[in-house]
Amino acid sequence: MTMDWSQIPAINQIDLTGKRVFMRLDLNAPIKDGKVKDDTRLRAVLPTINYALARNARLILASHLGRPKGVDPSQSLEPVAAKLAELLNHEIKLSDYPVGDATQKLVSELRNNEILLLENLRFDKGESKNDEELSKQFASYADVYINDAFGTAHRAHASTAGMIPFVQGPSGVGFLMHKEIAALTHLLNDPARPFVAVLGGAKVSDKIGLIQNLLGQCQSILIGGAMAYTFLKALDLPVGASRFEEDQLPLAATLLKKAEARGVKLLLPEDHVVATEISAEAKTRIVTDKFQPEDMGLDIGPRTLATYSEIIHNAGKVFWNGPMGVFEVAPFAAGTRAVAEAMAKTNAYTLIGGGDSAAAVEQFGLADKISHISTGGGASLTFLEGEVLPGLEALRLANPPKKD
Ligand code: 3PG
Repeated sequence: MTMDWSQIPAINQIDLTGKRVFMRLDLNAPIKDGKVKDDTRLRAVLPTINYALARNARLILASHLGRPKGVDPSQSLEPVAAKLAELLNHEIKLSDYPVGDATQKLVSELRNNEILLLENLRFDKGESKNDEELSKQFASYADVYINDAFGTAHRAHASTAGMIPFVQGPSGVGFLMHKEIAALTHLLNDPARPFVAVLGGAKVSDKIGLIQNLLGQCQSILIGGAMAYTFLKALDLPVGASRFEEDQLPLAATLLKKAEARGVKLLLPEDHVVATEISAEAKTRIVTDKFQPEDMGLDIGPRTLATYSEIIHNAGKVFWNGPMGVFEVAPFAAGTRAVAEAMAKTNAYTLIGGGDSAAAVEQFGLADKISHISTGGGASLTFLEGEVLPGLEALRLANPPKKD
């Protein structure tokens, strides 16, 4: 079951002309040496911003960056403002603080077709607390509210949820939010079979809800990354010095049993690339079950990657989240690369749930061969866990179905 979000208007169904449009974006991009290191999230919202500019809106852009505890100049949105101004070829003013007298003045002075970016929303502690007072201040800046921050839709914060009931005018989603939700909904509703999920990364504990929910939808779940060792250990199989989560062993055993009972193939690696250190010079070996006590499993082995690639090739639709090994280090990249290549080649509908797997396909130059790459890791996992996204739910409540 997916939520009915069809009643939420998209930006192109709302009159923006000359209006103060409060646009919540997720501009939470990695910053290095005072510059945006990866501008994917910025480029993803350009169509929404440009659409509003073309309608002569007065734009108030809002985003968080990182997780600052109060004002922290090292987490200022300044580098983001500079990069966004360059991408848009448009001047952007940046406030000193998300709200307050000076910000209020900048908002009231905004003219048609001008852009003001509010400073990192999390500089104000009320943002993450979904504080009502802060929500009201944000709402007072808006004639129209647009949420295009898919990456933050799983957070019930002042700018993503709290302010919406206080906005006097219409509220809706931007083009990115629309595209992301449509892609995830398609993944769940498309009748193509088999539905294959490829899950990797470090922790089973991060993926419990996801695996539980996918057990009711997928025909195969292919496990890689360090989390595979928690499952193997739960089956009492050797793992050498591989990382696993001791406290998750009972749960891993339960998930394996549930998969069997439901007839879902939950596949674990049958061979591994092992080494005693994580470095580009590490000496690697391929093992099936003959782990030495000091061996760490750091990637899926050649037999596993062949099996996984074949299953992806024959799939009807595939969801992938989490790398198969330590792909940033060359000797342990083959498994993740093979999954990325299989995703690129298959005729199945393919969706990547943000984070490291998105970075991997980007690194391997295969991004344009994937049906959809989400800009929100946490948000897409929350959606696929079957949970409500508060950012979307608040918009749904603000836009009740129209009675005839
Ligand atoms: C993200 O990068 O996942 C989003 O921007 C949300 O950030 P958060 O996990 O700090 O809320």
